[in-house]
Amino acid sequence: MSRSFRTRSQMLVVLVAALVADPPAAAKPGQDRAPLTREPDIYFVPTPQEAVDIDPERVRESRANARRSGVDKLVTIRHADIFETDFSDADVVTLYLLPTLNVRLMPQLRKLRPGTRILSFDFDMEGAKPAEVFHGVTSDGDGYQIYKWVVPWQEERAPDQKTDSH
Ligand SMILES: C[S@@+](CC[C@H](N)C(=O)[O-])C[C@H]1O[C@@H](n2cnc3c(N)ncnc32)[C@H](O)[C@@H]1O
Repeated sequence: MSRSFRTRSQMLVVLVAALVADPPAAAKPGQDRAPLTREPDIYFVPTPQEAVDIDPERVRESRANARRSGVDKLVTIRHADIFETDFSDADVVTLYLLPTLNVRLMPQLRKLRPGTRILSFDFDMEGAKPAEVFHGVTSDGDGYQIYKWVVPWQEERAPDQKTDSH
């Protein structure tokens, strides 16, 4: 049975452990003491965030990390199968799966509203041309990529088709 995310503005994450890990020291709330220069045009309302993982151990671990980091009120972490999850209301979808799984998820991703952003850590999605690819380096010196698509994405031909000559 599919599960539905009810509120309109939502973020679906499979990368649950990373999402709820301690924020880097520089980004911790309250450390930036710059004064408010004028009234915000809209007041802060946290965007509801939802995460799913099929492994109950990962779910337990992520909930514990969220509590420890004080963000458990901001994120709902569900034990669910992403392929049976209705996330058609999401505004942003972040993934840390595998290239083959990203491709298997394409039928669900295609149904997202136009303008919805999809971000995948490290893994491409064959057949969908990314709008952007960010190349980063971790503090340990390891390279990583973040792929971004915006729905509807531009179709991309498979690598063997790209090299076809007539
Ligand atoms: C690359 S790991 C990411 C691990 C961890 N979330 C992190 O960020 O370090 C991929 C995660 O996808 C989860 N997963 C695999 N198949 C899934 C499915 N069908 N539905 C939901 N989650 C799934 C695994 O349990 C695993 O935790």
